[in-house]
Amino acid sequence: MTARDRATSEFAFPDGFLWGAATSSHQVEGHNRWNDWWEHEQSGRLPHRSGAACRHYELFEQDFELARRLGHNAHRLSIEWSRIEPREGERDAAALEHYLYVIQALRRRGLEPVVTLHHFTNPAWFGHTGGWLRPDAPRLFARHVEHVARRLAPDVRYWLTINEPTVLVAQGYLNGAWPPFRRSAWRAALRACRNLARAHVAGHRALHRCRADCLVGFAHSAPWVEPCDPASRRHRIAARIRDLILNRAFFAMIGARPRWRPKVPLDFIGLNYYTRAVIRSSGWSPRGLLGHACHLPHHADQGPLSTIGWEIYPTGLLAVLRRFATFGLPLLISENGIATDDEHLRETFLVEHLEQLPIALGEGVDVIGYLYWSLMDNFEWDHGTAPRFGLAAVDPATQERRPRPAAARFAEICRDNRPINVPIGGAEEK
Ligand code: FCB
Repeated sequence: MTARDRATSEFAFPDGFLWGAATSSHQVEGHNRWNDWWEHEQSGRLPHRSGAACRHYELFEQDFELARRLGHNAHRLSIEWSRIEPREGERDAAALEHYLYVIQALRRRGLEPVVTLHHFTNPAWFGHTGGWLRPDAPRLFARHVEHVARRLAPDVRYWLTINEPTVLVAQGYLNGAWPPFRRSAWRAALRACRNLARAHVAGHRALHRCRADCLVGFAHSAPWVEPCDPASRRHRIAARIRDLILNRAFFAMIGARPRWRPKVPLDFIGLNYYTRAVIRSSGWSPRGLLGHACHLPHHADQGPLSTIGWEIYPTGLLAVLRRFATFGLPLLISENGIATDDEHLRETFLVEHLEQLPIALGEGVDVIGYLYWSLMDNFEWDHGTAPRFGLAAVDPATQERRPRPAAARFAEICRDNRPINVPIGGAEEK
């Protein structure tokens, strides 16, 4: 046994560490007819249709039962705003009662709910009337949050206001890939970003009004950013700029700065980590220094890619945890996972990423949980259903869920609350 193995075998995660998986409403529920994604899926502006997705809106009990059987003690899901408020100011009481029942179904199984209030989709009415560019967007969001929290807060301690605001803005206002399909609309992007930041702050306040001891964060897309060629000053500067935009700007907008926290409206940070972003500058001009993602496999340490082309880079998780620890807040890994059809690779991915956690915890980084993306294969936005992120496969014809080998491996880690040293491929589902 090497010193490293010994350190790993003696290590245990802190008591109460959150172990589980994450999903989002539009990706699993099915038939979210009142949101902007659904609308553009029908019009053909988006390339794929979510349709019945995983029919999780009906099958949630069975899915939570699966999570429980897989050793999870927590579960992240999102509440679909468009179901609760299908038309501006009109509330569907039955939809809210549904979510209360869903949360209680988690609690009954000993699964701690981690609830996201906005996961990419907007109610269609909100999109039609300006979406995140509406001056009153933060107020509308906070009003919705308060409505939801008044009913659910007694059963929910962990809240994530908004999922990946920087991705939402980039895809919707710069890349033109997601609603509202704007391209290079920098001023609009900045405005949407500011409104999302204000919405988070107002949501944080509303949640604390409903439950003083709740913990509120947002889920930040946290790539580890590196220069394409560390020896080049130009690439280093571009990577630094990109990192500030991706990993600092939104925090600054809500008033959160490293090593400085007089009453920041943030109780913990949700980190969605998947890969590293290797940045290359195309010149010394301002545009050149903004840089672009370099996809050339010319890095000596380039890892394998997932089916959607994301590089597997486990040590980036450790680097991200160290980086965000400087905010002095607890960190929840709110998403981490891989799209692959290679089950050996999925297991390796999971184990190698989990290996980073004892190192971070050993250094005093306050990691409070790890949520794998996703519990099951689901509707992966503009990629459709081809990418397979699930701990369980889903048969689209029968909706049968079939746990994969990585689910069994993960189950052992969750149950033991410690990393294990069983060879990959050697774990069976219990
Ligand atoms: C994240 C999203 C999540 C899922 C994963 C693969 O950016 O939050 O909904 O699509 O990527």
